[in-house]
Amino acid sequence: MAEIQEILFDEQAIAGKVRELAEQISHDYAGKELVLICILKGAVMFAADLMRSLSLPVIVEFIQATSYGNGTISSRAVAVKKDIHTDIKGKHVLLVDTIIDTGETMDCLMKKFSEKGPASLKAVALLDKKCRRIVEVPVAYRGFEIPDTFVVGYGMDHAEQYRNLPYIATIKTTA
Ligand code: IMP
Ligand code: MG
Repeated sequence: MAEIQEILFDEQAIAGKVRELAEQISHDYAGKELVLICILKGAVMFAADLMRSLSLPVIVEFIQATSYGNGTISSRAVAVKKDIHTDIKGKHVLLVDTIIDTGETMDCLMKKFSEKGPASLKAVALLDKKCRRIVEVPVAYRGFEIPDTFVVGYGMDHAEQYRNLPYIATIKTTA
C-alpha cells in the first residue's frame, strides 16, 4: 500500500513550468511543423497541457514503452507495446515524457526514431531525476530537476494508481 506524503509541485507550479517550456519550444521551432510523440501512459497529462500551449502546427503521436513493472524499481528492459503511425522521415520530432530516471526509456526511443531519418529529434521532460542516470541521454528541454525520490501524479503512477492527481507528490509505502 502507498499514501501521499508531500506535494512537490502543485497545479500552479506545473502550469507555469509547462508554459515556460512551451514558449521555448514554440520559439525554437517557429515556422516548422512538429511531431510530438507522447510516451504513454505517464506523459499523457504533460503532453496534453504542453500541446495546448504551443503556437505551432503539431502532429500528435503516441508510443507505449515500458521499462518499469508495477513497482518502484526499474526492470532495465524497454519493450514497445504500441507504436506510432506517422512516417517521421524528414520531420521535426519531439519526444515527450513526464520524467527521466535512468534514461533507458528515452535512450532506447531516441535510437529507434533516429533510424527513421527525422529532420531533427529532441526530447522534453517535465521532471529530471538526474542523479539516477545510467544512460546519458540528451534532454533538450527540461522542467524541474528532482532528487532520487519516487513521485506520483500528473500522469505518473505507483502500481497504476495516482495517475489522475493534478499535482506531483511523493508517496509513503507501507507493507
Ligand atoms: P527510465 O527509463 O529509467 O528513465 O524511466 C522512465 C520511466 O519510468 C518514466 O517514463 C516513468 O514512466 C517511470 N518512472 C521513473 N521514475 C518514476 C517515478 O518517480 N514515479 C513514477 N514513474 C517513474
Ligand atoms: Mg509506471
